[in-house]
Amino acid sequence: MFQSNKEYLEFLKQSGVHSFLQETPNNLFEEQQKQTQLPEDKDIKSLDKITEIKDLIPLILNHNSTLRKNTKNIALFDGNIKSKLMIIGEAPGKEEDEQGLPFIGSAGQLLNKMLSAIELERKDIYITNTIPWKLPQNRTPTDQEILEFLPFLQRQIEIINPRIIYLLGTTAAKAILSTPLSLDTLREKWHDYKSINMDTSVKVLVSYHPSTVLQSPKLKKEAWDDLQMLQKELNEN
Ligand code: URA
Repeated sequence: MFQSNKEYLEFLKQSGVHSFLQETPNNLFEEQQKQTQLPEDKDIKSLDKITEIKDLIPLILNHNSTLRKNTKNIALFDGNIKSKLMIIGEAPGKEEDEQGLPFIGSAGQLLNKMLSAIELERKDIYITNTIPWKLPQNRTPTDQEILEFLPFLQRQIEIINPRIIYLLGTTAAKAILSTPLSLDTLREKWHDYKSINMDTSVKVLVSYHPSTVLQSPKLKKEAWDDLQMLQKELNEN
């Protein structure tokens, strides 16, 4: 007979056994639910009552998210709360986490240059992120994490009430346009965004994230084309 469980397992493995049946099946749906920390009902109700961006901050701070672990500061927004142009990125990086402001690191510096090329400054626009907390190792947020923070982002849009939203990168596009389509498919056309609390829709344009442009400088031409499309809309209407 076998001297230990390990020996027995080795014997089974050598005999071709690679999996075991459990008495109860894995509840995959339940696992999914556990990963998604949607804001609680009371948070959503309080969200609807909030009419100023500054009042969103305590609500997000109170929302119990695992993403908050090992971060220093929330990087919710920068710029002008009266702006008609809202720019949405992905999530804060190291510098943003340290200073509590979005887009101040290398991607932010490129964003500033891109904006000045169309005669805009940060004080002219409202800048925010899909996720207000830095992600571990700056990884891309999962769909669950995007959903977790979407109500807060939607409320920001309702409060700012911009005329145009400029989405930087796949994460922001996924969140606002609810689509898994690639940036190449979404670019170069105007989309509409509207939530149930809004009377009119907002025009949405999608472009590459400045970090992607830094990694692939050959995308500068496309990023410039997108900026010109944005400028044309801003100037014409
Ligand atoms: N990238 C983002 O998407 N947001 C930031 O704030 C910084 C880098």
